[in-house]
Amino acid sequence: MKFKAVAFCRIVLLSGLIVLPFAITWAEETTLPREKLVSIFPNAKSFTEKKADLTPEKVASIEAEIGTKLHPKDLKPTFYIAFNENKKPIGLALLLEVKGPNGVISGGVGLDMTGKVVKVDIHKHSEVAGVANDEFLQQFNGKGIDDKFKVGEDIEPLAGAQVASQAVALMPKKTLAISYALFLKRPAKAEEDAPETIEPEDLKEVMAMMKDEYDLIRAYFQKGDNRDKEAAVKAAKQLGKHAELIADFEPPKNPNNTEEYTYFREQFHDTIHEFTQTLATEGISERTQKQWQEVIDLVNKVHLRFSVEEVELDEDLN
Ligand code: HEM
Repeated sequence: MKFKAVAFCRIVLLSGLIVLPFAITWAEETTLPREKLVSIFPNAKSFTEKKADLTPEKVASIEAEIGTKLHPKDLKPTFYIAFNENKKPIGLALLLEVKGPNGVISGGVGLDMTGKVVKVDIHKHSEVAGVANDEFLQQFNGKGIDDKFKVGEDIEPLAGAQVASQAVALMPKKTLAISYALFLKRPAKAEEDAPETIEPEDLKEVMAMMKDEYDLIRAYFQKGDNRDKEAAVKAAKQLGKHAELIADFEPPKNPNNTEEYTYFREQFHDTIHEFTQTLATEGISERTQKQWQEVIDLVNKVHLRFSVEEVELDEDLN
């Protein structure tokens, strides 16, 4: 999750090319919200601004990331880039507004060169006083694009002000999502998004891969510990991916019943997909337990119809 200096240099270069030549950009400094920027980057020696435009695709991806609609004002964000005395960029800031339960909350968020939040400031609000206090705001520092910014999970809300706390948490989350959508490249996520490199030789190999994932999910339900949810969701996703490989092989029994076999494959695909989605939001719940049972019932049916050998999925447990 390195927030590359290159990215900033690109912003700086662009601001020089598109907005105005450097000398004039410096001269413009007086029109910048200097006080607000200095509060975020007290060590900065100068600032420049870069206006950006969000395409509908970027808006869609940002909204998916933050889980809510962007404000019309967010669609043309103005970034402020902070420089040190050697004219090296040290971070960027965005001034923005969110809707609190009692009205608009406005503030500023700074990110450092590694893409981590360095400061959240609140400028105006009609909520409890605590939302503007460092004590509350400092918890955002050091967080990055992969953090949830979710009250009750990684954000400690102000007593009795859950909704306002969540609204403030949206500021750094939005800043990160917009910055990454515009300038910053996320490195490919670990394993999960990596292309599948193992090419199974036969159906038994596919099944062996699926069995590992199946066992992990089964253990998750048996243990009943939702701290393992992430691993279970990952296994469910992999299970869906690996199931796609089934189509490359003929079943050893009833190989001519292709329609029925295809039906089972599609059913499995849909059921596991739905299960994965629900699991990601609900973890262990009545619904996910029911969906998991549906997966098992389906798999048992397929095995009966298309495997010569008896397949006992839970043979290693009593
Ligand atoms: C949770 C999902 C699944 C698991 C954990 C699983 C697991 C297994 C296991 C352990 C075997 C025995 C492999 C062996 O004898 O070495 C097997 C065989 C088989 N499975 Fe699955 N399976 C799953 C889903 C499916 C689905 C969705 C299909 C087809 C639509 C399928 C079709 C078959 C067939 C045809 C065989 C016999 C393979 C052979 O003997 O060559 N399985 N499965």
